[in-house]
Amino acid sequence: DALKNQILSFNLPQDLENATLYAVMNGGKRVRPALTLMCAKAVGGLVDLAMQAAVAVEFIHCFSLIHDDLPALDNDHLRRGQPTLHIKTNEAMAILTGDNLLTLAFLQLAHSAFDENTKMMMSKELAEATKNMVVGQVYDTLGNLPKALPRIEQVKLVHKNKTGALIRCACVFGGMCSAKDQVAMKAIASYGTHIGLMFQIVDDLIDLHGCEEHVGKATRKDSEQGKLTYPSAVGVKESKNIIKHLKNEAECALEPLGASADCLRSFNLWLAQRTR
Ligand code: IPE
Ligand code: IPE
Ligand code: MG
Ligand code: MG
Ligand code: MG
Repeated sequence: DALKNQILSFNLPQDLENATLYAVMNGGKRVRPALTLMCAKAVGGLVDLAMQAAVAVEFIHCFSLIHDDLPALDNDHLRRGQPTLHIKTNEAMAILTGDNLLTLAFLQLAHSAFDENTKMMMSKELAEATKNMVVGQVYDTLGNLPKALPRIEQVKLVHKNKTGALIRCACVFGGMCSAKDQVAMKAIASYGTHIGLMFQIVDDLIDLHGCEEHVGKATRKDSEQGKLTYPSAVGVKESKNIIKHLKNEAECALEPLGASADCLRSFNLWLAQRTR
């Protein structure tokens, strides 16, 4: 697919290319690229063009997973049903493959067929989202959250940053593939903000209730590692209420887009109910 062809086009040394293919072409759900394509479709953008932006977002996502699994962060051995990259190869290769994917994402945008202004806006959007993802990972891994914030606001801050920001960016990229209609753009950004936060709350519940074989990664790790999650902060029942609320907010956000956003509506329902 497009991801594989892009990776092969960068002429990487064999070991780095193998590690990159291993970490990217291994059965991810491709939620973020799907969002870019669906958002582009909702605003009448070209799907071929949108694919080039979608690849950049998935590169950042795969980089974030490789580093998230390292011993210094979550110390995980299973990802997408297979050994994590640092287990399969070694820590040095995992760190460097992550570094490289971060760079390839921006190279991908630079080489894309978007006009120069759109490329610039996309690079800025992706840089901002990646910075926020890292900020979220710092909060998640090292703590030091603003003490004055109530616990629910603290966990919201972690989740919006570590996961919400890149999902929102995936949606905004789709919006940028077409006419710069401010109303449509706002609708898509708001949809992305709500499903982005929702995505990580659902992930917290999957960690709590899922089984490893189905989920493809170790479960019950968050409580073991004392992570701040929605279920640990507000309980399972309230977490489910918040998911329902965010799903409704995402639905409302799509209103101005009419029937062209129907696939985003169905996807919203699936995201709220997914079990892996
Ligand atoms: C996992 O993301 C990490 C989080 C941000 C919760 P996904 O659930 O999208 O992982 P893949 O890409 O399908 O493996
Ligand atoms: C993932 O959060 C956030 C990022 C990778 C940025 P988690 O640590 O909960 O993700 P999983 O559960 O390992 O996929
Ligand atoms: Mg983590
Ligand atoms: Mg993790
Ligand atoms: Mg998790």
